[in-house]
Amino acid sequence: MTKLIIDCDPGVDDAVALFLAFASRDLEILAVTTVGGNVGADLTARNARIIRQIAGREDVPVHAGAARPLFRPPVEADHFHGESGLGDLTVFEPAAPLAPGHAADVIIQTVMAQAAGGVTLAVTGPMTNVALAFIREPAIVGRLAQVVVMGGARTEGGNITASAEYNIYADPHAAQVVFASGCRCVVLGLDATHQVRATAERVAALRALATPAAQAAAEVIDFSNGIERDIVGGKSAPLHDPCVIAYILAPQLFTARPCKLEVETGSALTLGHTAVDFRLADPGAATIQWVTEVDADGVFDLLNQRLAGQ
Ligand code: RIB
Ligand code: CA
Repeated sequence: MTKLIIDCDPGVDDAVALFLAFASRDLEILAVTTVGGNVGADLTARNARIIRQIAGREDVPVHAGAARPLFRPPVEADHFHGESGLGDLTVFEPAAPLAPGHAADVIIQTVMAQAAGGVTLAVTGPMTNVALAFIREPAIVGRLAQVVVMGGARTEGGNITASAEYNIYADPHAAQVVFASGCRCVVLGLDATHQVRATAERVAALRALATPAAQAAAEVIDFSNGIERDIVGGKSAPLHDPCVIAYILAPQLFTARPCKLEVETGSALTLGHTAVDFRLADPGAATIQWVTEVDADGVFDLLNQRLAGQ
């Protein structure tokens, strides 16, 4: 049983990641924490509770967190996620409220309350809450089993600017705090997530499942495919955030390499760029692993298998 905290900015792909996590009973989700990102913090906090209600998992507390980045002005991505943040999904005021406590404090309290190495942190949005927690209580850096992050790009270039991926671009200073902290980190950048495409066949297989979570997941993925077609000029959207949960559930589907990773925080032109270097004097001493290969069929098989039971 993996004890897990999920920090997210739902967001259509965050929603699919949450559905996958909520459907996986080999995960003990200690908390979901939310951050301003794709859409404002009030909406990401609501959206996480909407997904939780559809999944029937009101046993999991949702805590709201930072409404803005550490330094830079907020930048949202509602053009990719729709005004609500959940694409065309019918939104509603969830029955169960937010739990008390700021996300950064909840991350600290939860990690300190568990055994050393007992908690995994999944991060699928800007890393503001995580950076605040690391700054406020450095002891959690070494206590975390691992931090699995969706963010950055090396060979794929950027998706919000020419050289930056959104999660890092949205709060580059927070990302640098986390990557420089020495925490055991697995990073799924665009190099990995662009290998995991929601083709029509894959969406049809998901939609064929009769569960509310599978239907809702297929609906938000369809929305992403429409955006991919209309804005990006592609056919199938990459499934970014679910790769984080899939890695935690089935790491054998992924290949990673030790690296040195630094974030550009000074240049206006390349703000948020992730400089990923595999040339290491001592690879064994590296704390960051960069995912280079993904078994995309395996990820979709896992998603279908878990959502079929939800
Ligand atoms: O670049 C993709 C990432 O940015 C995903 O986490 C998506 O939800 C957006 O936050
Ligand atoms: Ca996200």
